[in-house]
Amino acid sequence: MRTFIALGVLALLYLGVYGDSSDWWKAMSLYQIYPRSFKDSDGDGIGDLKGVESKLEHLVDTKIDAFWLSPIYPSPMVDFGYDISDFKGIDPVYGTMQDFEDLVDKAHKLNLKVIMDFVPNHSSNKHEWFQNSVRKIEPYTDYYMWHPGKIVNGSRQPPNNWVNVFYGSAWTWNEERQEYYLHQFAPEQPDFNYRNEKVVEEMKDILRFWLDKGVDGFRIDAIPHLYEIEDLRDEPLSGTTSDPKSYGYTIHMYTNALRETYEMVSQWRDVMDEYENKGDTRIIVIEAYANMSKTMDYYLYRAHFPFNFGLITSVEKHSKAESFKKLVDTWTDNLPVGAVSNWVAGNHDKSRLVTRYGRNLAPALQIMVHLLPGVAVTYNGEEIGMEDTWLSWEETQDPQGCNAGKGGYEKSSRDKARTPFQWDNTVSAGFSTNPNTWLRVNENFKHLNLAAQKAADKSYYKTFLKITELRKLPAVNKGSLQTRLLNDDVFAFSRELEGETSVYVVINFGYSPETVSLQAFEKVPDDLLLYVTTSDSMDIQSSDSIKSTSVQINPRSGAVFLSKN
Ligand code: NOJ
Ligand code: MG
Repeated sequence: MRTFIALGVLALLYLGVYGDSSDWWKAMSLYQIYPRSFKDSDGDGIGDLKGVESKLEHLVDTKIDAFWLSPIYPSPMVDFGYDISDFKGIDPVYGTMQDFEDLVDKAHKLNLKVIMDFVPNHSSNKHEWFQNSVRKIEPYTDYYMWHPGKIVNGSRQPPNNWVNVFYGSAWTWNEERQEYYLHQFAPEQPDFNYRNEKVVEEMKDILRFWLDKGVDGFRIDAIPHLYEIEDLRDEPLSGTTSDPKSYGYTIHMYTNALRETYEMVSQWRDVMDEYENKGDTRIIVIEAYANMSKTMDYYLYRAHFPFNFGLITSVEKHSKAESFKKLVDTWTDNLPVGAVSNWVAGNHDKSRLVTRYGRNLAPALQIMVHLLPGVAVTYNGEEIGMEDTWLSWEETQDPQGCNAGKGGYEKSSRDKARTPFQWDNTVSAGFSTNPNTWLRVNENFKHLNLAAQKAADKSYYKTFLKITELRKLPAVNKGSLQTRLLNDDVFAFSRELEGETSVYVVINFGYSPETVSLQAFEKVPDDLLLYVTTSDSMDIQSSDSIKSTSVQINPRSGAVFLSKN
């Protein structure tokens, strides 16, 4: 009996500190793996699942709790997996279903959660369903959005002025069916018709298929595009560009973030909850580039969280400290009570963080991502500060880059942030034994690679590790958050919890050194320790004692200070 009580007390203590095990996702460090570029195990120059499996220890070393895999399903690879031809398979380039099951097994043994990319808005035009839909074979006839178009001055035209995200009309004519079909992305990615109940059921069936394989959740792709207004009316012109093919040409009020879209999110949450009821939390994470209120609505419709893209979309390298404070405050003020925050600074669709912010300021943003409340999201390669790779027009493969044409591809192509992970200084940066990889390795790999950074006394990766290690502190996990603008250039925030070590983050977005006082935080102690700085030239050493009334901070860099208790 006594042992029983003792065990009970231990369990309660554990729950008190770490929360329920169903809370595993609430303070996780989530890592995005772009499987094509992570690790190639078979020498074909393309990353694969066995490759990912062989590198899971790196995630553990990096204090990652969960990873999401960009799509690994069979795909013609027009949009590199975001055009799926079989939602329940594995593309042979990435391996087999057995490889996938082995990966999930090993991940779980290492205490890593596995999140899949779920792409419900569209399939590949090579998907059997689309092929059958073209031929009007039931029940697939209305699985997609078909329309005969309209006749204007004797010639046939698409039903309306809608444009696709990549460039050009959202409608493509199909000769065989003699109708247009809708695609919010490339013509090879036809949009599903969610007003067809069968499609809705198919999608839930796909979710359950992967949940039954033990995956822990889904990152749901391109959510705002699920539904379009039924009468297909024209969208109003934005007036910001005269190019009718540009996505910015219209205001997407009839094709984006419709009420029905949110309701579908709720229905998918219900599917997750079927598993929750069996004692197993599975999560849905929403990809939606949207304004604050539309983003927060995903919480209200019961998504575990929508990605917070503020650090990607509302600030850039010239933004003032004030904008960073505003970004954090607006998010926090708008967050529904009890909802879990998250912070994202990069992904496979955006330029690399170091390229966007420079070597010293980029890790300062990583500090924000990791020390603000909630989930921290890291795109693979950002932990070693990989940079954008300059690719020529001939080399680029991304449909968004290709559609923009030779003149505009450099700006539009997302391939620059998708080149192979730089593991070491051997052939193809240790990514592949093959010197020819699907996108070429950045030439800086000889010095910019994980192995070198692990061996060095000071490196981007070591700074990153120091930052992620702090997530264990109770104040970071569940302490309060206060933000302050200390002067025009310096933004600071505190994480404090009664009786625990407090954390003070100070970031100088300006171009000259600053000395600031942290007394703006009411509870700051007189003496602090410098824990880490992202500045190369900071001459104070970690562990030096610092007066909180006079904290020095180098230009374009961030630092973390701890209370001494
Ligand atoms: C968002 C994905 O992140 C992007 O890579 C893809 O092209 C579109 N959705 C379409 O699926
Ligand atoms: Mg391979």
